[in-house]
Amino acid sequence: MCKQQLIKEALKPLAKSEINIGVLGGAGYVGLVTGVGLAALGHQVVSQDIDQNRLEMLRDARSAVYEDGLEPILCQLIDIDQISFTDDQPGTIRSSDAIFIAVGTPSLADGAADLSAVIAVAEQLRDEISKYTVVVVKSTVPVGTIDVVTDILSQKLTPGEDFDVVSNPEFLREGSGLIDFFAPSRIIVGSDSERAMKVLRDIYEPLLEGHSVVNVPWIDASREIPYVETDVTSAQLTKYAANAYLATRISFINEIAGISEKVGGNIGDIVAGLGLDPRIGPGYLQPGIGFGGPCLDKDLRALITVAGENSYDPVLLNGVLQRNELQLREVMNKISGALGSSLYQKRVALLGLAFKEGTNDVRHSLSIRLYRALRDQGASVVGHDVLALDEVKELEPNLEVSSEVSDVLAGAEVVVVLNSESVYTDIDWSSAGLPGQPPFVVDTRGVLDIAALEANEIPFYVLGSTA
Ligand code: UDX
Repeated sequence: MCKQQLIKEALKPLAKSEINIGVLGGAGYVGLVTGVGLAALGHQVVSQDIDQNRLEMLRDARSAVYEDGLEPILCQLIDIDQISFTDDQPGTIRSSDAIFIAVGTPSLADGAADLSAVIAVAEQLRDEISKYTVVVVKSTVPVGTIDVVTDILSQKLTPGEDFDVVSNPEFLREGSGLIDFFAPSRIIVGSDSERAMKVLRDIYEPLLEGHSVVNVPWIDASREIPYVETDVTSAQLTKYAANAYLATRISFINEIAGISEKVGGNIGDIVAGLGLDPRIGPGYLQPGIGFGGPCLDKDLRALITVAGENSYDPVLLNGVLQRNELQLREVMNKISGALGSSLYQKRVALLGLAFKEGTNDVRHSLSIRLYRALRDQGASVVGHDVLALDEVKELEPNLEVSSEVSDVLAGAEVVVVLNSESVYTDIDWSSAGLPGQPPFVVDTRGVLDIAALEANEIPFYVLGSTA
């Protein structure tokens, strides 16, 4: 029995599904949310991965990746044997009716997606599938990859009889992946096989009906979830287009922030004014150091690569990428502007080291890139993060960190706020900096209490507002 007592409320009676599901890459960010989500819908799920440490933790209902609300649900699912965790990939394949591929597709040096893990999985599927199996590509893969998977399986199996491959892209935000699974803005499925489409409808039916076999706070039976069926290419391209649009939105507002700064505007008011237009909306318009994380930059570069390979010049998307690169330089310039030409042994405090608030993921974090740039110029850097300190220590052992904001602020000559964790909005500035020498504060998110800064006579700069 897990630590948390099983919530004894009457769960919605739901016949357990007859569909056996395998998730390959089931301990990763996407695979774990997918496996837990599908098991909560009543399907029998086997989550397979090669990371023994993560598998051990998951069998004990603990997760190495931070996802809001995950462990209590995982705990209940383990208690009712709805989900299990293994490293046995052949066995998982043979026992499943549907296999979700959720392995990583990181960027190669030239920006193209590294499909080696997907191809290795496809070869295992080719060798192990022994009954009709729907292969669901959940990982974000470039247009054309599904054909590659189909070709590999077709070396030994017959499409339509032994298998079908389906694109079912994920739209999960890290840290709130379960909310995005149980309350998705849409479910998109791409395939040319009606037989496979029927299996996917059966898989998602409990979600569309609002049923779960354990307590899930986000399932709302009254909420209509758009279910979109299309062809494989359109499903894959929709995913890339969505992430490219989100990246574009961020680079757009960062560019407006840069112009606003030059002409004396207030970016907070500008964003508020923009967001009142229902065609624009208030969300996802927060300026900052740029978009980081394992998805947006990777998917944008992959889309640019696909365009180039098909003789199309993605001028806009290249601009989005360029602005994002320049944004980090903007922040560096503000820091060196405050510290004079040499950063050597100057003390810089970084608040927020993960790639965004609400996650412990430091992959592709621009805060870490900023640390490396400062370190390479000889600065003495100290950092704070709410969730990611263990991950930071593993990634950058030489970066001094503390879990106490006040420790990080003491002695700092410059303080850079890099994400909007609530702990940064009510800082006690009285003990910040050196005796008689308050730090210069760079607020890249516009989240600080300006009145508190002014009351403590702290010089500051808010990205996008009057320099
Ligand atoms: C993103 C997409 O949101 C999600 O739909 C997709 O499935 C995966 O990629 P994620 O990368 O987890 O999710 O984080 P997101 O919240 O989108 O933030 C991405 C980056 O953009 C972060 O570095 C964040 O700090 C930055 N960001 C986000 C901004 O700078 N401003 C914003 O307004 C929003």
